[in-house]
Amino acid sequence: MRENSIDAIVRRIGPSARVTVLTGAGVSAASGVPTFRGKDGLWKSYAAERLATPEAFASDPRLVWEWYDWRRTLISRCRPNGAHRTLALWGRRYEGFRLITQNVDGLDEKAGSEGVIRFHGSIWEVFCLDGCARSPRRWVLDEAPLGHIPPSCPWCGGLVRPGVVWFGEGIDPEVLRRADAALDCDLFLAVGTSALVYPAAGLVDAARRRGAFTVEINREATPATGRVDLAVQGGAEEVLGLLERRLGGRE
Ligand code: OAD
Repeated sequence: MRENSIDAIVRRIGPSARVTVLTGAGVSAASGVPTFRGKDGLWKSYAAERLATPEAFASDPRLVWEWYDWRRTLISRCRPNGAHRTLALWGRRYEGFRLITQNVDGLDEKAGSEGVIRFHGSIWEVFCLDGCARSPRRWVLDEAPLGHIPPSCPWCGGLVRPGVVWFGEGIDPEVLRRADAALDCDLFLAVGTSALVYPAAGLVDAARRRGAFTVEINREATPATGRVDLAVQGGAEEVLGLLERRLGGRE
């Protein structure tokens, strides 16, 4: 069964194929980055949904920054795994390859991926909450742990916030445009995502409506499992590794 699934995917990946991959927290799980949901998906008993909101930040910026500082410090010690490396390799090998990630950890770039469509932003970027005129639109702040919490804007002294998308906020229009263009593909793989958070969760359905063959790779069933053409159960690092061994062996 697993062999047939791997075959069905491998047949659709080739030099001229347009392949789009959407990744979620499951892809970084093998690197030691905690996922959002599930038994390890909590921090000090706060759910991500309660901390990753503009309202939470407005009412307690220190608490929200403590959560981000904890995650940033943890992520700074993590290295890309085989899944990140395989995706980076495909990006170099296949001209029509595009990677959309919901992950904010930057491990794809560390593995060598370029042009990643960062659907939910980056945990390593910040911007001035007041949008003061002198500060850049966003900038990199990669000190982890931070020397001072909450960090302040070097230009106006006001609060800065993480450069990530919070619940209730819209996706950057340019990112949406690039993600939309990536839906025109032959093969769409949704890897390691719980398919619960929209609009990202709707991308796989949109790609299918446009004619892509859609595949889910996940350790567990998700709401998307019944809506894709093929669901492969397994770890991202393991299944992408299997695919790459077959693809690499073919060339
Ligand atoms: P979740 O934590 O919701 O889901 C992680 C998924 O990965 C689950 O479906 C797991 O079964 C699966 N999984 C775990 N380990 C895996 C492995 N080794 N290989 C394959 N799959 C594995 O993470 P996301 O779907 O990414 O939003 O969450 C979506 C968004 O919700 C995140 O981007 C974040 C969060 O709140 C923002 O930060 C805006």
